[in-house]
Amino acid sequence: MSNSNEAELTHMFRGILFTTRSSPELLKSLDAFDAREDDVLLVSYPKSGTHWLAGVITKLYDTQITVTSPIEFGDVSKLEELNQLSSKRIIPTHLDYNMLPPNFKNKKCKMIYLSRNPKDTAVSMFHYYRENPHLPTVDTWTAFFDLFLKGNVVCGSWFDHFLSWEEHNNDKNILFLFYEDMKKDLPEVVKKIASFLSLNVSDKDIQDICKKSSFSEMKNDTEKENSDPSHTVCALTSNRKLIFRKGAVGDWKNHFTPKQNMRFEETFNEKMKLSKM
Ligand code: A3P
Repeated sequence: MSNSNEAELTHMFRGILFTTRSSPELLKSLDAFDAREDDVLLVSYPKSGTHWLAGVITKLYDTQITVTSPIEFGDVSKLEELNQLSSKRIIPTHLDYNMLPPNFKNKKCKMIYLSRNPKDTAVSMFHYYRENPHLPTVDTWTAFFDLFLKGNVVCGSWFDHFLSWEEHNNDKNILFLFYEDMKKDLPEVVKKIASFLSLNVSDKDIQDICKKSSFSEMKNDTEKENSDPSHTVCALTSNRKLIFRKGAVGDWKNHFTPKQNMRFEETFNEKMKLSKM
């Protein structure tokens, strides 16, 4: 990564790398955030399919909801903006469990944690870094691979993020989902989400939602809506073309060398020793 723009675009907060789009003042003030009991959190490590999940959830409600930008993106006025919203709030976040405003935990707000094979996540993030002027420059896949394994990328280590949330996988207010399951059987996952959110949705509605949430449909919508920044959940870009890249499982095979795969597996096995999933 070139150091020239790294210092301008990122900063460390409590040992985790954030972009300067998340101001230190906002990050500090998160502890005091006033959650509402009916808030729903969409939690993910970047590039795990957050926009896809947000797209599905938006279609599940027939009442007014607002999908906000991630709670950690913006400056200190962000929390006030969220306070002003009168509709039900669907709040995305890439925060580690330990950094989550305690009020969400105390009020037992519903949270959906979406995870994805970290190898595909790394590849998706590499392309995102390459195309996004708000992220530091990465020169090669090899350089990015090292940063990802060490957790020196925005939002920190994939492993630490996953483990911090996995510890709570038995909490009744947290639903764990996997990108790969959404690819395999979206209707089944949508049913699970609807039941978790206590929403009554017919089979016909589920079919419609899945059709409208396919990669090609969402990408096509993007081309129509690209000029409207409010249509992106990720505040790091208003360019939706950066979000809908390939939408595939296993793209890592087109990037990882056998040696990189071995190194990844070693780190994975070491870091995930304590994981039950
Ligand atoms: P790729 O870069 O591998 O294509 P996020 O929304 O968390 O930023 O994640 C973006 C990733 O989710 C991208 O992965 C994107 O293509 C994929 N994605 C977005 N919508 C999708 C959909 N409807 N179906 C499958 N994958 C989707």
